[in-house]
Amino acid sequence: MTDNKALILRQPDDWHVHLRDGEALADTVAATARQFARAIVMPNLKPPVTTAALGRSYRDRITAAIPPGTDFTPLMTLYLTDHQDPAELDPTVFTAAKLYPAHATTNSAAGVTAIAHIRPMLDTLQRLDLPLLVHGEVTDHDVDIFDREAVFIERTLKQLVNDYPALRIVFEHITTRDAVAFVEACGPNVAATITPHHLALNRNAMFDGGIRPHAYCLPVAKREVHRQALLAAATSGSPKFFLGTDSAPHEVSTKESACGCAGIYNAPVALESYAASFEAMGALDRLEGFASEHGPRFYRLPLNEGRVRLDRTAFTVPDRQTVGQGKVVPFMANEVLNWSFSGPIPPQN
Ligand code: NCD
Ligand code: ZN
Repeated sequence: MTDNKALILRQPDDWHVHLRDGEALADTVAATARQFARAIVMPNLKPPVTTAALGRSYRDRITAAIPPGTDFTPLMTLYLTDHQDPAELDPTVFTAAKLYPAHATTNSAAGVTAIAHIRPMLDTLQRLDLPLLVHGEVTDHDVDIFDREAVFIERTLKQLVNDYPALRIVFEHITTRDAVAFVEACGPNVAATITPHHLALNRNAMFDGGIRPHAYCLPVAKREVHRQALLAAATSGSPKFFLGTDSAPHEVSTKESACGCAGIYNAPVALESYAASFEAMGALDRLEGFASEHGPRFYRLPLNEGRVRLDRTAFTVPDRQTVGQGKVVPFMANEVLNWSFSGPIPPQN
């Protein structure tokens, strides 16, 4: 339901989030669980989540960090590596597996160097009917960083989709019109997540009057024409596109550095910033499908029964958030957002 003042949505889920570990968990889990009932939790820890035992213990640490009285379910992912026992793909632990091309992004050094190495894992995923989640960028330094997603489609993803026609694949955090067109042209087994920051920022944001490390993430934001394609896809109503924040906190000093980390911490303002982008497109009525329906349908999980409410109450995003012992600059810091998240609403009879 939408009117001018309130937006009531079926409780959404986040289909791509980095909760980190250790002291960070209390804050990251609280921020995500405040808005989302479930989240697909990325496995790029140090060391990465490469076994069922590691997945189980990480899930236990996340569960222990859920604020009392909050209903939140972490959905775990296995980090794929070159040499892995398919028995690690335990469906009682993992909802999906994540393909990081080696060295593509934060903590991906142990990732996959060639698809040939993970054929046994891909066969097993297809047989178990578990989705493969893909960080879609080539890592070749000869390829321009702004072209790495489009080149990945040509060099890797097309073949993968061809070779595993029954495998469900999520092309994560897409950033280009090429990715939108590719996903649209595939069958219903191929979908994509879209982040709030890629809907809001183009690549100019990283160089706005000076270098802006808090607008830097991977895949890096692209030209405006690509942002427009992402907005069109997210608001199209197509079940192939759904919410995945890629919320990825890095402590301030590791971003504001001569070699700053990639990642944007958007969990504290996730729904508010998606709402801003959908409203700018005149498509607030499409937000519920994107945020709360397309993801569970793709993952073949039940839709959430609860409802949440956003109110048209402007607020200024704080310039710092506490994450564990450190401070993180959140997405949209110091900016005004017009929709405020007000929390769950009581069930209607
Ligand atoms: C993520 C991180 O920091 O873990 N960073 C990012 O820029 N998105 C890794 C990732 O999803 O690529
Ligand atoms: Zn990510």
